[in-house]
Amino acid sequence: MDRDTILLLHPFIAAIVVFPLIGIVVNHALQTRQRRLQVATGAKSAIPPSAGSEHVRLGRWLTGSVVGIVLIAFAVDVFGYIVDKQVWATSPFKVISIVLFFVAAIASLSFLYQAKTRLWRGVFAILTSVALIVIGSQDGVYRNDAQWYISHYYYGITASILMIFSLAIVKEIYQDRTHRWRNIHIVLNSIALLLFVGQAFTGVKSLLEIPLVWQKPYVEQLYKQQCDKMPCTVQSAPALKMPK
Ligand code: HEM
Ligand code: HEM
Repeated sequence: MDRDTILLLHPFIAAIVVFPLIGIVVNHALQTRQRRLQVATGAKSAIPPSAGSEHVRLGRWLTGSVVGIVLIAFAVDVFGYIVDKQVWATSPFKVISIVLFFVAAIASLSFLYQAKTRLWRGVFAILTSVALIVIGSQDGVYRNDAQWYISHYYYGITASILMIFSLAIVKEIYQDRTHRWRNIHIVLNSIALLLFVGQAFTGVKSLLEIPLVWQKPYVEQLYKQQCDKMPCTVQSAPALKMPK
């Protein structure tokens, strides 16, 4: 697979798996709430009782798929940088520790799926989130710190942590008669939903801005010479080795 195709892996899975899942999960969320409020007033509800369990069943898939696409994007960014800058030659331990953080993120999330007690759910939720943050702070990841409030990275990492948190508190939502955890879940995941909408916007914007491999040396010149602000001339770049 060439670099340009690898870049498309993350948006492709977002479009074909993550966003459809978000649609179904949110639909079930609204049904769950509507049914609960109808039943609480003593009225009969036309919504089946399975709406809640379907929301959770697909919600579990949603958490996994969001963390999955974030890890794919990080892998593209971080390993792309490692190859380009030949980091392996200068600091092999750094490369090994980055690989171990990827393993740690996947292992912690799979343990979180199986954890029963509150303590272990807390521990694995924190470990998964920390592993994502550590990988996300590596060289090669485009964080857009200057515009963090519209950054695909910051929205993405926050949404992933909110999904991990939802997975960790499923038991609390069901057991809490005062609905405190349920309300916390609703508030946090309404924010997550807005972040996902933001991801769709900032994600397609990223795609628009990232040049194809053969265009890169020319487009870099446009940025260096600030061609958006002043007239400039793009020099011919050394011919790239194109895959046969
Ligand atoms: C964008 C994503 C999500 C949104 C907007 C969302 C929103 C909601 C809403 C509105 C409810 C109904 C609350 C009520 O009864 O008033 C709910 C219930 C619930 N959600 Fe989510 N949620 C999302 C993702 C998740 C995920 C990823 C999980 C866990 C893996 C999860 C676990 C639960 C649980 C356990 C309930 C209680 C279900 C029941 O009463 O049977 N949610 N959610
Ligand atoms: C659930 C939704 C999504 C999440 C949580 C998410 C998360 C992320 C994260 C954390 C990164 C790494 C930071 C960066 O390089 O900017 C990233 C990269 C990227 N995302 Fe997304 N993203 C989502 C949806 C999308 C969509 C819908 C598109 C485009 C249609 C997209 C396109 C990209 C591109 C082009 C990159 C940079 C290249 C790469 O690292 O693969 N993303 N995404």
